[in-house]
Amino acid sequence: MKSFAFILLAMISGLANAAEPASSEIPDTLDERIKPCIICHRDADRIDRDAYFPRIAGKPAGYLYNQLRNFRDGRRYYQPMAILLENMSDEYMREIAEYFASQPYTYVEPVAPALSSAETQSVETLVYSGDPERNLPACNACHGEALMGMQPAIPGLLGLPHAYLAAQFGGWRNGGIMRGQTPDCMSEIAKKLTQEEVNALALWLPGLPVSGQSAGTETLAPELAQRCQTILSGKGVSR
Ligand code: HEC
Ligand code: HEC
Repeated sequence: MKSFAFILLAMISGLANAAEPASSEIPDTLDERIKPCIICHRDADRIDRDAYFPRIAGKPAGYLYNQLRNFRDGRRYYQPMAILLENMSDEYMREIAEYFASQPYTYVEPVAPALSSAETQSVETLVYSGDPERNLPACNACHGEALMGMQPAIPGLLGLPHAYLAAQFGGWRNGGIMRGQTPDCMSEIAKKLTQEEVNALALWLPGLPVSGQSAGTETLAPELAQRCQTILSGKGVSR
């Protein structure tokens, strides 16, 4: 483990330099470019030191691509990735996203949630019916009937561990260091939920076994597509 930082730095600088004309013997290939990524992102989620490293293999390509651009352009913040992606073109990010989307993945095993039956019932209402009074659509209206996402840009909600879910909601709700900088449908929804609802969702979702397929965006209702337009158009928004 002592050489981790050294190897990482060497790889990061190798990657940053790859935008310039090749000055060393390292060939500028996709294989070389993804090497630094898989130091942190192996095939499964894990926690290392103080950071949470999400699985990226097998997630929808458009979703991964949007996240890469968010990190590069400052809409989602994690400095080591911002440095890596600084000089990378959209085109190259698209290739990397497609590569990881096509990789096999290891899902975490379901973990039975410690929730009362009243809590379970209110989570299920949110997930499958939403709450019209707060203008909250059902989660599965966007994340697919099976909660396995909608290609190409809406991720699935199954097979994500509790710590990752809790961190993402924290980022959307609190703004600042993670995802909260993007005014989009998901941060808007996360801000309408109560902390109790977020806690319950982050426990309940990992209790479901992964099954089913991601849907196609053609099944997304037009008003929901409109709500997520900045994400689905792949344009993002300016800072
Ligand atoms: C130093 C460790 C590190 C390196 C190197 C790294 N990442 Fe990350 N990556 C992270 C962490 C930590 C997060 C989670 C940050 C967050 O939650 O905002 C993340 C998040 C992501 C996400 C968003 C995942 C999701 O489900 O929303 C993508 C996509 C991603 N990384 C791709 C890459 C690619 C491609 C590379 C190589 C060019 C790379 N990463 C290099 C640590 C790293
Ligand atoms: C109006 C459509 C819409 C609704 C409704 C919606 N989401 Fe999302 N959600 C999205 C989109 C789009 C993204 C991708 C965000 C991005 O690209 O940054 C997303 C991303 C997520 C992610 C990130 C997954 C990952 O792999 O990092 C989680 C978790 C999530 N949503 C949970 C929920 C929950 C729980 C609900 C119900 C309370 C919900 N969403 C309702 C559109 C929606």
